[in-house]
Amino acid sequence: TLDRINVAIDGPAGAGKSTVARMVAQELSYIYVDTGAMYRAVTWYMLREGIKPEDHDNVLQTVRNMVIELIPGKDTQSVMINGEDATPHIRTLQVSGMVSQYAKVECIRTRLSQLQREMALAKGVVMDGRDIGTTVLPDAEVKIFMTATVEERALRRYKELKDKEQVSLKQLENDIAQRDFLDQNREISPLRRAEDSVLLDTTSMDILQVVETIVSHCRSYARGERNHL
Ligand code: CDP
Ligand code: CDP
Repeated sequence: TLDRINVAIDGPAGAGKSTVARMVAQELSYIYVDTGAMYRAVTWYMLREGIKPEDHDNVLQTVRNMVIELIPGKDTQSVMINGEDATPHIRTLQVSGMVSQYAKVECIRTRLSQLQREMALAKGVVMDGRDIGTTVLPDAEVKIFMTATVEERALRRYKELKDKEQVSLKQLENDIAQRDFLDQNREISPLRRAEDSVLLDTTSMDILQVVETIVSHCRSYARGERNHL
């Protein structure tokens, strides 16, 4: 078996990070941590409470007092905010449209990054997001930067959403491009490829191929470790 390591998976929206990260974790018997779900849950809560991202004092106060719990489940992980399950509300277009505005606020990033680091202390974690390899877990043993063309990513999202929400492919493409722009250009821990990450373009790869590629990186890392000992 593998020595327990941490795996960081970053990349733009719709690249396949969460689907793949969950399966990699399953394959390795690791814990999967979806950091995007945490930013989404905070966004849902702030929107419901009517707290705008630019309302600094209010945001700070709310984030300080917030109880955030991550409950790992079989298929999805649940996020509880102050004892309320946010999970059913976090994938809506409304939350997707606002999450990058809250994700750029310093006190929100500080709080969530700290929780994420704590979850990875014991190793054996697969964590996906935007700044995991660069900021949250710069010492992760395996780092993957997963991409695909914006057209392919929008198409993947469209297939997922078309029966649930009234949305066009073109609109999804615009939403995704706009979110990527905001995530790449914010001041604090923007979406960037870590220099020591493996670049994985998944445009023409299916899910299993991507999972296999990452698992094999993990196993070869583990073999390399043993040779050093
Ligand atoms: O699933 P999708 O790629 O659409 O997004 P997500 O991973 O659920 O993340 C939603 C948003 O949260 C991103 O667009 C970022 O604005 C923010 N986020 C972040 O800033 N840092 C992370 N580590 C994870 C997500
Ligand atoms: O987490 P992220 O936003 O990066 O992407 P995701 O939510 O895991 O994946 C978006 C959609 O693309 C899901 O419906 C996946 O099943 C699909 N997908 C795919 O068709 N081919 C891949 N190689 C990876 C994901």
